[in-house]
Amino acid sequence: MELIVATHNKGKLREFGRILEPLGIRVRSEEEVCPGLEVEETGTTFAQNAYLKAKALYDATGLATVADDSGLCVDALGGAPGVYSARYAGENATDAQRVEKLLGELKDVPDGQRTARFVSAICCILPGGETIQCEGTCEGTIGWEPKGEDGFGYDPVFVRDGKTYSQMTGAEKDAVSHRGAALRLLYDQLNRRLNGIADQ
Ligand code: IMP
Repeated sequence: MELIVATHNKGKLREFGRILEPLGIRVRSEEEVCPGLEVEETGTTFAQNAYLKAKALYDATGLATVADDSGLCVDALGGAPGVYSARYAGENATDAQRVEKLLGELKDVPDGQRTARFVSAICCILPGGETIQCEGTCEGTIGWEPKGEDGFGYDPVFVRDGKTYSQMTGAEKDAVSHRGAALRLLYDQLNRRLNGIADQ
């Protein structure tokens, strides 16, 4: 089957392909199928925003769509930046500026209190309108400085098992990441539907 991914974020799109294509699901970008579509993320939860993005693309194309709304929740900041992760340092800020702001906010927070988690809410809408939602999380800590070359967003400061996401290979990140966990749940749900297995 084929899914159109509702995102303008190249880092996310790369991960969708990396995780879903080996499972037999082809992914195409929103850019390719429906260029210029803009969706306001007015929800207050990851799940609401994922639904808004998948639904807008589904309404525009009638094709099977999938969206991820994700972000970083830092305990010492009361769960911020959370659903506002992309806009944390202003609408037009760069990844480097967002990371710098985060490290600044945490400059007096000691080791042991720098716990955080990434959350990924996935929403998939199938032709006919059937909707599947699932969520994955990844627990970690926020480092003291950016480390590693790969990835996007807050990857250089999110530490899991002694390495930042940026220091991991793609396969290492996917095996532990919030998006990997959520997309594997989606795959299970899709399989159940395709094989006609009813939910409990
Ligand atoms: P949104 O889901 O488009 O609202 O944006 C999520 C934002 O959270 C991204 O712009 C990144 O800043 C951050 N984010 C989400 N997932 C990841 C990840 O896997 N690595 C690093 N940053 C991420």
